[in-house]
Amino acid sequence: MGYNVAIDGPAGAGKSTIAKLVAKKKGYIYVDTGAMYRGLAVHFLRKGIRPGETDKIAEACEDAQVTIHYENGVQQVYLNGDNITEKLRTEETGNMASFSSAVPAVREKLLELQRTLAAEHDVIMDGRDIGTNILPHADVKIYLTASVETRARRRFDELKEKGADCSYEQIARDIEDRDYRDMHRDIAPLKQAEDAVLVDSSDMTIQEVVDRIAACCA
Ligand code: C5P
Repeated sequence: MGYNVAIDGPAGAGKSTIAKLVAKKKGYIYVDTGAMYRGLAVHFLRKGIRPGETDKIAEACEDAQVTIHYENGVQQVYLNGDNITEKLRTEETGNMASFSSAVPAVREKLLELQRTLAAEHDVIMDGRDIGTNILPHADVKIYLTASVETRARRRFDELKEKGADCSYEQIARDIEDRDYRDMHRDIAPLKQAEDAVLVDSSDMTIQEVVDRIAACCA
């Protein structure tokens, strides 16, 4: 059994940035479970399925194989043998992932993959239901959050930097919608595990958050 750190929280709280840095500092493997949901989302989109088409999504799970490999310590996501890592971070994929992750067949498909990685390696795994559902016996559980305003501002700055044309109000609305869907779905909704440490990063620097979480780990 590996040493397992679970880090859950809403979209845009900085989980992946923080988890990568903690992984480096502590020598763990960083497992990004959102990327696995995004990987399946690419599959659904390629089949022309739209976010609300629950039955088609469940059916399309049957011919999707998501696998994970590490190249120089960086997670690579494969869909039916094709490396799609570069295709995961678009708004369209994120939106499809947000809807399709509420479909039970989708979550079942990824559960074993996540548990196997955690059993075989020392990991810091980020997602929405890691501490509550995937790894209920994780050695450390963190619930990382930040205010909607902070998360929207960070996302806005990030997109602006890439030269994208975007509106702060729209980003804030998308974040609120995504939070609502993640927290209110029937299966494995986002919530803080009873034994998780709450870290609100709204007024913290990245380094402060990393140090705070690293201090919880062996
Ligand atoms: O974290 P990220 O934005 O990449 O995740 C994409 C979507 O996948 C989220 O909006 C969320 O609905 C879903 N997700 C999930 N459970 C996880 C990780 C992600 O439902 N463990």
